[in-house]
Amino acid sequence: MSDDTAVVPQVTVRAPGKINVALYCGRPDASGYHPLATVFQAVELYEDVTASPADRMTVSVSGRGAEQVPLDQRNLAVRAASLLQEVTGTEQHAHLHVAKQVPVGGGMAGGSADAAAALLACNELWRTELERGDLIELAGQLGSDVPFALRGRTAVGSGRGHLLTSAITRERFHWVLALQEEGLSTPDVFADFDAHHEAPEVPRLPDGLLEALSGGSAEELVGFLCNDLQEAAVRLRPELGDVLAAADRGGALAAIISGSGPSVAALALDEQHAESVAHVLRGAEVASDVLVMGAPAAGARVVEAIAL
Ligand code: C5P
Repeated sequence: MSDDTAVVPQVTVRAPGKINVALYCGRPDASGYHPLATVFQAVELYEDVTASPADRMTVSVSGRGAEQVPLDQRNLAVRAASLLQEVTGTEQHAHLHVAKQVPVGGGMAGGSADAAAALLACNELWRTELERGDLIELAGQLGSDVPFALRGRTAVGSGRGHLLTSAITRERFHWVLALQEEGLSTPDVFADFDAHHEAPEVPRLPDGLLEALSGGSAEELVGFLCNDLQEAAVRLRPELGDVLAAADRGGALAAIISGSGPSVAALALDEQHAESVAHVLRGAEVASDVLVMGAPAAGARVVEAIAL
């Protein structure tokens, strides 16, 4: 290694995408946000954010859907780094590179994972030394799903989805993800939901769901897969009905839309079963990508740090 590379400090943080194993939605509050009762599970599809020193904030993006990601102040990684600058008062800047696996606008919180990863990466790079709890608080200001991307594994979300409590899972679950190139707008899906549902003021998870998760068997969990936003997503993108039908034909235990869609998550018994469901989904040509995935995955963590 040359002397030059040895003195370049650079931090890479990896944060996971998520699916919603269950999502119950209430009616919007005065701020327009919907109270949720949801179970998030982090999956092994990652966003890697590398932060390196720069004399102003800049961002570049590569990987799945990179051309759809804004490179200005709307970029969630930039917003996260700017918020950290603001609260710590640091005058340092960074160049952020985002390497994407999670689809853009896919209902899998890819942008939220970018924000979570950028918070952690810049906190390391700048040595601003905020504690994990402070970062989780900032994460909640950046978006409803950002705290979960920091935390990972499996968790129950309430409030806007940003208030988290642990959910125990002893085993690994096996999912097949069917991704779409074109995302869905989360506000549009919530608006369609509002137009068609008399939702409760405070949604709650059904009895037995947490026990089914901790029991660890996919067969136990399958009856609890539920997404209140699914009908709205299918109304806005009717082809998603074909994806769900293909997963069913492929023998999945069950399939649901993740979050506000359009990604579909199909639950399988084990890896071999997941591969056979994926085979049918690929043959049906209803998705831009079909991936077999273990879960739960870890939350945002430093995977590489080159220090001064
Ligand atoms: O919190 P986040 O910025 O990720 O939310 C994106 C959009 O999704 C919000 O502007 C809002 O329209 C909608 N949303 C909602 N209720 C939630 C979470 C998100 O209405 N609990």
